[in-house]
Formats: sequence, C-alpha cells, structure tokens
Amino acid sequence: MTAKPKVFLARRVYEEVERYIAEHCEVSKWTGEGRMSRDQFFECLADVEGLLTSTSPVDAALFDRAPKLRVVSNLSVGYNNFDLEEMKRRGVIGTHTPYVLDETVADLVLGLMISAARRIPEMDRFIRKGLWQKGADEELFGVDIHGKTVGIIGMGRIGQAVAARAHFGFGMKVLYSNRSRNAEAEERLKAEYVPMDRLLAESDFVVVMTPLTKETEKMIGAEQFARMKPSAVFVNASRGKVVDEAALIDALKNGVIRAAGLDVFETEPVRPDNPLLTLDNVVMTPHIGSATRQTRFAMAMLAAKNLVAGVLGEVPPHVVPELRELVQGRK
Ligand code: 8YV
Repeated sequence: MTAKPKVFLARRVYEEVERYIAEHCEVSKWTGEGRMSRDQFFECLADVEGLLTSTSPVDAALFDRAPKLRVVSNLSVGYNNFDLEEMKRRGVIGTHTPYVLDETVADLVLGLMISAARRIPEMDRFIRKGLWQKGADEELFGVDIHGKTVGIIGMGRIGQAVAARAHFGFGMKVLYSNRSRNAEAEERLKAEYVPMDRLLAESDFVVVMTPLTKETEKMIGAEQFARMKPSAVFVNASRGKVVDEAALIDALKNGVIRAAGLDVFETEPVRPDNPLLTLDNVVMTPHIGSATRQTRFAMAMLAAKNLVAGVLGEVPPHVVPELRELVQGRK
C-alpha cells in the first residue's frame, strides 16, 4: 500500500473539505496557540509535498525549508504571494481558485459603490449619534449611481461581473481599460475600451479590479487621482498595493475626489493609526469580497481539489497561467 502524500493546511477549512483531502493525503495542520511564526510555519513544511495557503509568501526562503514541496494551493484567486520565477525554477506547481467567487466579489463592489455614493455608513452613524433633527437637505445629499459612467480598470472575470451589474442593473455606461480588448464584453455589456487617461477623466465611478503584479503596484497614485472628476467615487476590491494609499488619503482629504469604497489596503489588517479611519468620505470593509459561506466553501473545495490532484501527479483544475508548463504531460 503506497504511502499517502503529506500535505500541510495553513488555512482552516471546512470539515467536509478536510475529509476530502484526508481521503487522498496525510494531513497535518497547525494546532499550536495563535498564529504560527514564520519559523514554526517552516518547521511544519519540512516533510510535506503539498501546502494549502492563501497569503503566506511562497518564495526561496520557504522552499529552502521545504525540500519535498511540489504543490502550493492558494485558497484565493489572487496569487501575488507566489514568487513565480522561483516556483518555475524549482518546478513547484501553484494553483488558485478562480470563477467561484466572481459574482460574490462583484456584489460587494456594487455595495461599496452605492455605500460611498449615498454615504450609507456615514448616514447610519449620523442617526446613531442622534444628529437627525429634520428632513434631508443638501448636507445629507449623495450622488446618483443609475445612468452614470463606471470606469473599470482590469476587465477580467470579476471586472465583467461588475460591468454586468452596472450596465443591466443600473443603466450605467461602462468604460474599461485592460491589457487586452474583450470583444465579447464590449458586445454584451456595451463596454467601451478606452485609454486610462480617458477612463479617469470621464468616469463617475472608478473601479480597480486588477491583480497585483510588478506592473500594477501603485498604478493609481496622485497623478491618476488628479485626472479624476472631483465628484468621482473610487472603489478598490483587488489589492491594496495597486494604489498609493497616501495619495488616496490626500485626494480624499483635499476634495480631489469625492469618496472611496475600499475592501483592500496596503497593510491588512488596517492599522488603528491609518488616517483613512478619520475620514467620513471613505467606506471600508475588511477584505470580505469573497466572504460568504457559499463562496468560501466553493473556494476551499476547489483549493482542495487543486492540492490533491497536484500531489497525486494529475493536472489540477486551476494551475496559475504562468506555471502551466509544469503540468504539461500529466494526465
Ligand atoms: C481571499 C481574495 O479571501 O481570492 C482572493 O484573491 O482576495 C479573497 O477572496 C483572500 O485572499 C484570503 O484568502
């Protein structure tokens, strides 16, 4: 009877998911108090072939302490925690969980757009502070969403799900910028492919949905905010580091843009001294884009299937594009 491949779960997963993994693998997981230190984490990897994680940096330092590691399964669609060059060099397969979270994240994006535009959390605080004394006048006004223009930076699967809600649900005009054109989205969503400068200048809502890469790090900074309308609402549900957060804080403080809705930040969790926390014209959520039980279960099961297939020498359902060559020839 061949020994089951050893895997380490660095993320807590639903029992059903762990049972599925345990059918095929010898499972180990952190049972110590609190969060693992990087060193404790490395010790847990000394003898495993597979790792399930989501945000831990997957790099040379890790591989040096995990000599048998062959598969890293991210419980997330984003994989900016992967050192892709190092993984390719060492032949370590990396997988992620696309598709299953698209609609859930897009729902939150619309929620952030509406909350920031209509000042919902601020108005909720206004009432809780007992400040509501008379009818809603100018000082309580927000801005409309329906019929306005939304500019989507990064028209991937989630960007398209946002565009569909905006176009069909709110009659919005959709502009987009992307590495490549998407004729299908242009046809279906009447989306217009425009240069970034035009998108920034013409959009009432600017939504960032790009992965975090060397090219996109801090791609939205003071120059880009200055190109936006003073009435613009900025939304980021991709990765915090795609935005120069200090420039965003300045833009919000100085009326360069009207408001922002943020689900991601340069540092997560957000530090208590982050100036964003002092601003009324920013709506914040703690990286909950995909945080529904239905979607997180689907992500966890997909991550499990990726992990098991990978360590059993099969082709995992979703190998990240940059590492697909590593599974060529597998069944
Ligand atoms: C994850 C996300 O929840 O999938 C992603 O890329 O950002 C979120 O869905 C987060 O990465 C933690 O796992």
